[in-house]
Amino acid sequence: MTHWMRCVFPVGRLSLLIGVHHVICHPVTVMLAWRHLYGCWPSWREVICIVVHDWGYWSCTTIDGEDGKRHPELGAQIAGRLLGPEYRDLCLYHSRHYARASDRQPSRLCYADKLSIRYEPWWFYLARAWASGELAEYRMRNAQGGYLCRSAHYREWFTWVRGYLIDEGLKGRSPTTPKAGRLHGESITRKPSKPSTPSEVLSIIGDHR
Ligand SMILES: [Fe+2]
Ligand SMILES: [Fe+2]
Repeated sequence: MTHWMRCVFPVGRLSLLIGVHHVICHPVTVMLAWRHLYGCWPSWREVICIVVHDWGYWSCTTIDGEDGKRHPELGAQIAGRLLGPEYRDLCLYHSRHYARASDRQPSRLCYADKLSIRYEPWWFYLARAWASGELAEYRMRNAQGGYLCRSAHYREWFTWVRGYLIDEGLKGRSPTTPKAGRLHGESITRKPSKPSTPSEVLSIIGDHR
């Protein structure tokens, strides 16, 4: 992609338009994950938060770089103005980076956001990640962290990230949600090789989900 194309379509914008954070596909999968985790559909206010929470990627030139880490700010600002501080926090702390920086717990949206990958067919997710250019960044960060070499097959990478994010997302499930650990007959006990500290988590998959 030429320099100007990159200026007009930075990776964050492509992610929202055609990529992993697609403005329709991603909120739909987050809502499905929300229902699975908390045993009910999100309220209309929560739906607004789910829709806007990643809009801050619009101008980002990275997903997990310095600007990408600040992507929750725009959605939080919108939710705060429309719905109040409670919903601002729901958006802002969908990012573990922000939650840690503010000494807060990740919001319920954080866990639904991570679990959302469970509702993504591999081919659809990978096609979007590839088309938007995100896949290269994710794989590069994985390789830099020494967790999955860049020569790993795309499917292998997806399986690994999916397993990790599902496990992270299920940490937020409601204890009253029956059978929250399984869906479509799938085991959740498989543990991918995964980081042990928050900073390592960031180096692998960042807070993009
Ligand atoms: Fe996000
Ligand atoms: Fe998200």
